[in-house]
Amino acid sequence: MSSAPVLKVEGLVTELRSGGGSVRAVDDVSFEINAGETLGLVGESGSGKSMTCLSILRLIPSSVGRVTGGRVVLEGTDLMTLDEAQMRHHRGRRISIILQDPMTSLNPVLRIGDQVGEAIKLYRGLEGPALRDAIVDGLRAMRIPAPEQRVSAYPHELSGGMRQRVGAAIAMAGPPAVLIADEPTTALDATVQSQLLALLKDVQRETGLAILFVTHDFGIVATICDRVAVMYAGRIVELAPVAELFANPRHPYTEALLRSVPDLDVDVERLYSIEGQPPALDDLPAGCSFAPRCAYARDVCRERGPPRIEAGPLHHASCWKLAGYGD
Ligand SMILES: Nc1ncnc2c1ncn2[C@@H]1O[C@H](COP(=O)(O)OP(=O)(O)O)[C@@H](O)[C@H]1O
Ligand code: SF4
Ligand SMILES: [Mg+2]
Repeated sequence: MSSAPVLKVEGLVTELRSGGGSVRAVDDVSFEINAGETLGLVGESGSGKSMTCLSILRLIPSSVGRVTGGRVVLEGTDLMTLDEAQMRHHRGRRISIILQDPMTSLNPVLRIGDQVGEAIKLYRGLEGPALRDAIVDGLRAMRIPAPEQRVSAYPHELSGGMRQRVGAAIAMAGPPAVLIADEPTTALDATVQSQLLALLKDVQRETGLAILFVTHDFGIVATICDRVAVMYAGRIVELAPVAELFANPRHPYTEALLRSVPDLDVDVERLYSIEGQPPALDDLPAGCSFAPRCAYARDVCRERGPPRIEAGPLHHASCWKLAGYGD
C-alpha cells in the first residue's frame, strides 16, 4: 500500500444559489486520501456530503451553484484548473462515483453489458471481441454470477444488490485511482450491504483504489474505513483514524453522535439524541455552527469560528473548548 495521497482536497468551497444570494454548502473542506485507503465522510442529512462529492467531480449543475474556492488535486493535477474537455478526460476514468440508487445512473432501456461496455470503450478504447471480453471480465470482477449470460439483462431484471454491482463495474471501468461512494449501500438490506462492502474491500486490495465513502452508519465506518471525517453544516468538524475517533472523540458533535450509538450498528439518522436540528444554511449562527446545540458552548463560540486543533497524529477537530476557549 502506497502512502502518497492520490486525492488532496484543499479549502474546497461550494456556494449554492439561495433567494437573491448564496449559501455555502461546502465550506473550507480539506482532506487527503492515500492509495489503498478509505476515508469515511459522516454527517446528518443536509450536512453537505453529497455536495462535497459532486464538487470534487465538478458535477454541480450551474443552476444550483458552483465551486468558488479551493483545490482538488487528483494524482498531481488540480481538477479545478481544467477546462470541461480536460475534466471529462479524468471524470469516470481516474475518479468515479457510485450512487445510492443505481437505477438513477443505469439506463433502464439498455442491456447492462452495453452500459458497462460504453464505459470501457470510452475509457480504454477497446472494441470488438476485446471489448466483449473486458465487459464479461468487468462483471466477473464485481462477483456478478454468470456474467456471460448477464450481459444481455436489463437493469429491472436484476436485484438491487446486483444493480449496485453493475454500477460498480461501470465505476471501475477506467480503472480509476479514486472511487467516491455516496451512500451506495443505504438502499440495500443488511446481508447484501455486507456483501457489497466486502467486495469493495477486495477490489481495493487488488487495485490500490482510494475510496471516499459517504455514510450515515457508524457500523459501516467501522467495517470499511481507515479514517473518518465528521461533517456538520458544510464543514469538517473532526477528522481522525477510525479507532482513534471511536475511542477518543474530541469534538462535542462527534462525542454526542457516538454517545447516542448504543452499538456501532446504528444509523446516524435514526439514533438522534442530540437536541435540536442542524441549522439552515441561509441562517447559520455566528461563530460555531454547532453552538445552539452544544452543551459546552460559551460566548466566544457564538462570536467567532472555532480554530482547528491538532488532537493527535492524523487527528484534528475545530472547537473552542479544545483551544481552552481562547484563554
Ligand atoms: N439540487 C439542489 N439544489 C439546491 N440545494 C441543494 C440541492 N441538493 C442539496 N442542496 C442543499 O445543499 C445542502 C447540502 O446537501 P447535501 O450535500 O445533499 O447533504 P447530504 O448529502 O449530507 O445529505 C443542503 O442544505 C441541501 O438542502
Ligand atoms: S466551538 Fe464551542 S459551541 Fe462549537 S463545538 Fe466547540 S464548545 Fe461547542
Ligand atoms: Mg447525500
